[in-house]
Amino acid sequence: MSTELNPLYNSLAFAYTAFANDRDFSREVEALGIKKSSQIEVCELFAGPAYHSIELLRSRCDVKVTAIDNSSLMKIEAQKLGFPEKGEYIVGNVCDTLESLQQAYDYFLILRYSLGLIPPKDLSRLLRAISNRLNFSGCVFIQLHRIDLIVNDFERLSIRERNVVSNSRNITCLWPSGPLKWREDCFEVQMPVTLFVDDERYETVSHEWIYTKTDLERECNLLGMSIERIKSIEQFFKQSCMYRLSFC
Ligand SMILES: C[S@@+](CC[C@H](N)C(=O)[O-])C[C@H]1O[C@@H](n2cnc3c(N)ncnc32)[C@H](O)[C@@H]1O
Repeated sequence: MSTELNPLYNSLAFAYTAFANDRDFSREVEALGIKKSSQIEVCELFAGPAYHSIELLRSRCDVKVTAIDNSSLMKIEAQKLGFPEKGEYIVGNVCDTLESLQQAYDYFLILRYSLGLIPPKDLSRLLRAISNRLNFSGCVFIQLHRIDLIVNDFERLSIRERNVVSNSRNITCLWPSGPLKWREDCFEVQMPVTLFVDDERYETVSHEWIYTKTDLERECNLLGMSIERIKSIEQFFKQSCMYRLSFC
Protein backbone atom coordinates (compact mmCIF):
# COMPACT_ATOMS: atom_id res chain seq x y z
CA MET A 1 0.00 0.00 0.00
CA SER A 2 1.43 3.38 -0.93
CA THR A 3 1.68 5.87 1.93
CA GLU A 4 0.60 8.58 -0.52
CA LEU A 5 -2.84 7.00 -0.68
CA ASN A 6 -3.10 6.10 2.97
CA PRO A 7 -6.58 7.35 3.98
CA LEU A 8 -5.25 8.05 7.50
CA TYR A 9 -3.35 11.00 6.09
CA ASN A 10 -5.74 11.93 3.30
CA SER A 11 -9.52 11.43 3.43
CA LEU A 12 -9.23 10.80 7.22
CA ALA A 13 -6.71 13.61 7.84
CA PHE A 14 -9.29 15.42 10.02
CA ALA A 15 -9.54 12.37 12.30
CA TYR A 16 -5.74 11.87 12.46
CA THR A 17 -5.39 15.55 13.38
CA ALA A 18 -7.94 15.16 16.18
CA PHE A 19 -6.46 12.09 17.87
CA ALA A 20 -2.85 13.17 17.30
CA ASN A 21 -3.48 16.21 19.49
CA ASP A 22 -2.76 14.09 22.55
CA ARG A 23 0.55 15.57 23.67
CA ASP A 24 1.92 18.74 25.16
CA PHE A 25 3.63 20.24 22.10
CA SER A 26 4.89 23.21 24.06
CA ARG A 27 6.81 20.93 26.46
CA GLU A 28 8.07 18.78 23.58
CA VAL A 29 9.44 21.82 21.73
CA GLU A 30 11.04 23.13 24.94
CA ALA A 31 12.62 19.72 25.57
CA LEU A 32 14.27 19.76 22.15
CA GLY A 33 16.09 22.92 23.24
CA ILE A 34 15.53 24.81 20.01
CA LYS A 35 17.24 28.16 20.45
CA LYS A 36 15.15 31.22 21.17
CA SER A 37 17.76 33.92 20.83
CA SER A 38 18.92 34.26 17.25
CA GLN A 39 17.19 33.83 13.92
CA ILE A 40 16.82 30.13 13.27
CA GLU A 41 15.45 28.00 10.46
CA VAL A 42 13.56 24.80 11.26
CA CYS A 43 12.31 22.18 8.83
CA GLU A 44 9.63 19.74 10.01
CA LEU A 45 9.48 16.66 7.78
CA PHE A 46 6.36 14.44 7.56
CA ALA A 47 4.69 17.40 9.26
CA GLY A 48 1.07 16.23 9.09
CA PRO A 49 -0.97 18.76 11.11
CA ALA A 50 2.36 20.49 11.91
CA TYR A 51 1.69 20.75 15.63
CA HIS A 52 5.38 21.28 16.40
CA SER A 53 5.87 23.91 13.69
CA ILE A 54 2.81 25.81 14.90
CA GLU A 55 4.10 25.71 18.49
CA LEU A 56 7.50 27.01 17.32
CA LEU A 57 5.89 29.86 15.41
CA ARG A 58 3.77 30.68 18.46
CA SER A 59 6.60 30.64 20.99
CA ARG A 60 9.55 32.09 19.07
CA CYS A 61 9.37 35.34 17.19
CA ASP A 62 12.65 34.83 15.32
CA VAL A 63 11.97 31.38 13.94
CA LYS A 64 11.37 30.55 10.29
CA VAL A 65 9.64 27.22 9.76
CA THR A 66 9.26 25.03 6.69
CA ALA A 67 6.86 22.09 6.93
CA ILE A 68 6.91 19.30 4.34
CA ASP A 69 4.24 16.61 3.83
CA ASN A 70 2.89 14.86 0.77
CA SER A 71 -0.78 15.26 1.75
CA SER A 72 -2.55 18.43 0.66
CA LEU A 73 -5.36 17.59 3.10
CA MET A 74 -2.84 17.65 5.96
CA LYS A 75 -1.77 21.12 4.84
CA ILE A 76 -5.39 22.25 5.10
CA GLU A 77 -5.61 20.75 8.61
CA ALA A 78 -2.41 22.59 9.61
CA GLN A 79 -3.80 25.87 8.29
CA LYS A 80 -7.03 25.36 10.24
CA LEU A 81 -4.88 24.93 13.38
CA GLY A 82 -3.00 28.17 12.76
CA PHE A 83 -0.17 27.43 10.33
CA PRO A 84 0.02 30.74 8.42
CA GLU A 85 -1.73 30.72 5.03
CA LYS A 86 1.34 32.40 3.57
CA GLY A 87 3.73 30.15 5.52
CA GLU A 88 6.07 27.59 4.02
CA TYR A 89 4.03 24.37 4.07
CA ILE A 90 5.24 22.45 1.05
CA VAL A 91 3.13 19.58 -0.26
CA GLY A 92 5.50 17.01 -1.70
CA ASN A 93 7.55 13.90 -1.12
CA VAL A 94 10.23 14.56 1.52
CA CYS A 95 13.17 13.38 -0.62
CA ASP A 96 12.17 15.19 -3.83
CA THR A 97 11.29 18.37 -1.97
CA LEU A 98 14.49 18.54 0.09
CA GLU A 99 16.62 17.89 -2.98
CA SER A 100 14.97 20.82 -4.73
CA LEU A 101 15.42 23.30 -1.86
CA GLN A 102 18.36 25.69 -1.76
CA GLN A 103 18.33 27.00 1.76
CA ALA A 104 20.01 25.55 4.85
CA TYR A 105 18.38 24.74 8.18
CA ASP A 106 19.49 24.74 11.81
CA TYR A 107 17.11 21.99 12.84
CA PHE A 108 15.29 19.15 11.12
CA LEU A 109 12.45 17.39 12.95
CA ILE A 110 11.25 13.87 12.12
CA LEU A 111 8.87 13.14 14.95
CA ARG A 112 6.19 10.57 15.82
CA TYR A 113 7.90 7.59 14.16
CA SER A 114 7.46 9.08 10.69
CA LEU A 115 10.85 7.98 9.36
CA GLY A 116 9.39 4.47 9.13
CA LEU A 117 7.01 5.64 6.41
CA ILE A 118 9.78 5.60 3.82
CA PRO A 119 11.25 2.36 2.49
CA PRO A 120 14.93 1.45 3.07
CA LYS A 121 15.86 2.52 -0.47
CA ASP A 122 14.87 6.08 0.43
CA LEU A 123 16.45 6.17 3.89
CA SER A 124 19.99 6.91 2.66
CA ARG A 125 18.64 9.36 0.11
CA LEU A 126 16.67 11.27 2.71
CA LEU A 127 19.48 11.47 5.25
CA ARG A 128 21.91 12.58 2.56
CA ALA A 129 19.50 15.31 1.43
CA ILE A 130 19.14 16.43 5.05
CA SER A 131 22.92 16.51 5.60
CA ASN A 132 23.29 18.63 2.45
CA ARG A 133 20.83 21.19 3.81
CA LEU A 134 21.90 21.16 7.49
CA ASN A 135 23.97 24.04 8.85
CA PHE A 136 27.25 22.83 10.31
CA SER A 137 26.22 23.65 13.88
CA GLY A 138 22.68 22.35 13.38
CA CYS A 139 21.06 19.05 14.30
CA VAL A 140 18.37 16.57 13.36
CA PHE A 141 15.92 15.12 15.87
CA ILE A 142 14.48 11.70 15.04
CA GLN A 143 11.88 9.92 17.17
CA LEU A 144 11.80 6.16 16.61
CA HIS A 145 9.76 3.28 17.99
CA ARG A 146 10.99 1.43 21.05
CA ILE A 147 11.78 -2.06 19.82
CA ASP A 148 10.83 -3.72 23.12
CA LEU A 149 7.28 -2.37 22.70
CA ILE A 150 6.91 -3.44 19.09
CA VAL A 151 7.87 -7.05 19.66
CA ASN A 152 4.77 -7.58 21.82
CA ASP A 153 2.37 -6.10 19.26
CA PHE A 154 2.50 -2.87 21.32
CA GLU A 155 0.66 -4.52 24.20
CA ARG A 156 2.29 -2.06 26.63
CA LEU A 157 1.76 0.99 24.42
CA SER A 158 -0.29 3.48 26.40
CA ILE A 159 -1.63 5.34 23.37
CA ARG A 160 -3.03 2.17 21.78
CA GLU A 161 -6.57 3.51 22.17
CA ARG A 162 -7.31 7.19 21.85
CA ASN A 163 -10.74 8.82 22.25
CA VAL A 164 -11.43 12.45 21.47
CA VAL A 165 -14.33 14.72 20.65
CA SER A 166 -13.57 17.11 17.81
CA ASN A 167 -16.09 19.44 16.14
CA SER A 168 -18.86 17.53 17.92
CA ARG A 169 -17.68 14.23 16.44
CA ASN A 170 -16.63 11.30 18.62
CA ILE A 171 -13.38 9.91 17.29
CA THR A 172 -11.75 6.71 18.51
CA CYS A 173 -8.51 5.36 17.14
CA LEU A 174 -7.18 1.86 17.82
CA TRP A 175 -3.55 1.68 16.65
CA PRO A 176 -2.71 -1.12 16.29
CA SER A 177 -6.15 -2.71 16.37
CA GLY A 178 -4.85 -6.27 15.94
CA PRO A 179 -1.69 -8.31 15.53
CA LEU A 180 1.09 -6.78 13.46
CA LYS A 181 1.75 -8.48 10.12
CA TRP A 182 5.50 -8.83 9.60
CA ARG A 183 7.42 -9.71 6.48
CA GLU A 184 9.46 -12.84 7.06
CA ASP A 185 12.75 -11.44 5.78
CA CYS A 186 12.95 -7.80 6.89
CA PHE A 187 11.56 -5.27 9.38
CA GLU A 188 8.62 -4.28 7.23
CA VAL A 189 5.29 -4.37 9.00
CA GLN A 190 1.62 -3.71 8.43
CA MET A 191 -0.17 -2.33 11.47
CA PRO A 192 -3.97 -2.56 11.36
CA VAL A 193 -5.59 0.71 12.41
CA THR A 194 -9.31 1.04 13.18
CA LEU A 195 -11.00 4.41 13.35
CA PHE A 196 -14.51 5.19 14.54
CA VAL A 197 -15.94 8.57 13.59
CA ASP A 198 -19.33 8.65 15.33
CA ASP A 199 -21.06 5.54 13.95
CA GLU A 200 -18.76 5.08 10.96
CA ARG A 201 -15.99 2.48 11.19
CA TYR A 202 -12.87 2.65 9.01
CA GLU A 203 -10.30 -0.11 8.71
CA THR A 204 -6.90 1.11 7.52
CA VAL A 205 -3.31 -0.06 7.62
CA SER A 206 -0.12 1.73 8.59
CA HIS A 207 2.61 0.28 6.43
CA GLU A 208 5.97 0.91 8.11
CA TRP A 209 9.62 -0.03 8.13
CA ILE A 210 11.13 -0.36 11.59
CA TYR A 211 14.43 1.49 11.79
CA THR A 212 16.78 1.27 14.76
CA LYS A 213 19.79 3.13 16.08
CA THR A 214 21.95 0.73 14.06
CA ASP A 215 20.38 1.92 10.80
CA LEU A 216 20.95 5.56 11.75
CA GLU A 217 24.55 4.86 12.84
CA ARG A 218 25.33 3.26 9.49
CA GLU A 219 23.97 6.25 7.57
CA CYS A 220 25.70 8.73 9.90
CA ASN A 221 29.06 7.01 9.35
CA LEU A 222 28.66 7.45 5.60
CA LEU A 223 27.74 11.13 6.02
CA GLY A 224 30.40 12.08 8.59
CA MET A 225 27.76 12.73 11.22
CA SER A 226 27.47 11.63 14.82
CA ILE A 227 24.42 10.25 16.57
CA GLU A 228 23.40 10.16 20.21
CA ARG A 229 20.34 8.86 21.99
CA ILE A 230 19.03 11.63 24.23
CA LYS A 231 17.38 9.70 27.02
CA SER A 232 17.07 12.83 29.15
CA ILE A 233 14.22 14.14 26.98
CA GLU A 234 12.42 10.84 26.33
CA GLN A 235 10.10 11.54 29.27
CA PHE A 236 8.55 14.22 27.02
CA PHE A 237 8.31 11.86 24.03
CA LYS A 238 6.87 8.89 25.90
CA GLN A 239 7.45 5.32 24.82
CA SER A 240 9.94 6.12 22.08
CA CYS A 241 13.68 6.55 21.48
CA MET A 242 14.91 10.05 20.62
CA TYR A 243 18.05 10.55 18.56
CA ARG A 244 20.08 13.64 17.77
CA LEU A 245 22.24 13.66 14.64
CA SER A 246 24.83 16.35 14.04
CA PHE A 247 28.20 17.07 12.43
CA CYS A 248 29.92 17.60 15.79
C1 LIG B 1 2.58 10.09 11.50
S1 LIG B 1 1.98 11.33 10.42
C2 LIG B 1 2.36 12.91 11.04
C3 LIG B 1 3.41 13.06 12.04
C4 LIG B 1 3.46 14.43 12.64
N1 LIG B 1 4.83 14.87 12.56
C5 LIG B 1 2.96 14.39 14.08
O1 LIG B 1 3.75 14.64 15.00
O2 LIG B 1 1.76 14.15 14.28
C6 LIG B 1 3.06 11.15 9.06
C7 LIG B 1 2.84 12.13 7.92
O3 LIG B 1 3.83 11.83 6.91
C8 LIG B 1 3.26 12.08 5.64
N2 LIG B 1 4.07 11.30 4.67
C9 LIG B 1 4.13 9.96 4.53
N3 LIG B 1 5.04 9.62 3.60
C10 LIG B 1 5.57 10.79 3.14
C11 LIG B 1 6.57 11.11 2.16
N4 LIG B 1 7.22 10.16 1.49
N5 LIG B 1 6.86 12.42 1.94
C12 LIG B 1 6.19 13.40 2.62
N6 LIG B 1 5.25 13.15 3.57
C13 LIG B 1 4.94 11.86 3.83
C14 LIG B 1 1.80 11.69 5.77
O4 LIG B 1 0.98 12.39 4.86
C15 LIG B 1 1.50 12.08 7.24
O5 LIG B 1 0.90 13.34 7.32
